[in-house]
Amino acid sequence: YEPPEFDSNCMTLTRFVLAEQKKVPFATGDLTQLLTSIQTAIKAVSSAVRKAGLGHLHGMAGSTNVQGEEVKKLDVLSNELFVNMLASSYTVHMMVSEENETVIEIETDKRGKYIVCFDPLDGSSNIDCLGSIGSIFGIFKKTEASNETNIKNTLQPGRNMVAAGYALYGSATMMVLTLGNGSGVNGFMLDPAIGEFLLTESNIQIPTKGNIYSINEGYSYIWDDTVSEYIRRKKDPAFGKPYGARYIGSMVADVHRTLKYGGIFMYPATKLSPNGKLRLLYEGNPMAYIMEEAGGVASNGKIPILDIQPTALHQRTPVFMGSKDDVNEFLAMYKS
Ligand code: AHM
Ligand code: MG
Repeated sequence: YEPPEFDSNCMTLTRFVLAEQKKVPFATGDLTQLLTSIQTAIKAVSSAVRKAGLGHLHGMAGSTNVQGEEVKKLDVLSNELFVNMLASSYTVHMMVSEENETVIEIETDKRGKYIVCFDPLDGSSNIDCLGSIGSIFGIFKKTEASNETNIKNTLQPGRNMVAAGYALYGSATMMVLTLGNGSGVNGFMLDPAIGEFLLTESNIQIPTKGNIYSINEGYSYIWDDTVSEYIRRKKDPAFGKPYGARYIGSMVADVHRTLKYGGIFMYPATKLSPNGKLRLLYEGNPMAYIMEEAGGVASNGKIPILDIQPTALHQRTPVFMGSKDDVNEFLAMYKS
């Protein structure tokens, strides 16, 4: 047995971000600081997802802990971690969370210049069966000069983002991050031995075309004709080699697979939910930003998701994203 080589010069996520920020003239280091706080929240969520401290949480014998308190639900805990770590980073001005109906304001003396929109634990239907789940975040700069909180800051088109990322709590924990503007998409695997995210996939590019479609086919009775016809063709050998179907029901997991293997992920509008299900600010936008940065396409069926002008914090949007050729083929059918 040869012990594995110990890398004494590994590229951690923090080191990577520091180096990227050095390239920006007049950078203050605030974004690095903010991303460090997000990493802390994600490490803690990952630990909770993997049931670390199970004995501590549950007591040895029962479903309540030793103090007799009910165990906090994972999504509530994740939200508290994100809110607390971000609010104390001195870099955030306002936050939007899937778990909070209104914007989250930061105490005046702790306010910074960034606006963060996040879904602390997405894919909740997968929690109890130990399926893959994730966290998603998008970061903007505030647009309004005043230090007073103004909702306008949070209603910016996704195109304005300065960074976006997600964490996938899958068979391993990975953070995928982009700082936009052609800087590329990079994947960092959590090394639990040192508690650091290490660069394992640099400059992720989505294949131009894939062979997988990903959609909740149980809703086909309420799809529109274009979605129905597109999916029909993907299964009909007369239109080429049929595609494989994959659907986890956890956006981060489905989008991450799409990014890695190519293909198309769809959550369309249906006759019962005219805007689909996914939320623009903290699901559609960050994922669209990553997709475009990786060479893919992300659309609501009419325009790029990143060009949508938001009007409400929790508004929904139809989502079609993935490999350029696959999404464009679908969009062409929509047009005609
Ligand atoms: P959630 O925020 O309640 O977890 O819902 C979002 C999730 C996404 O991760 C996933 O893409 C979608 O809901 C799946 O929805 P459905 O079960 O309708 O297919
Ligand atoms: Mg969600």
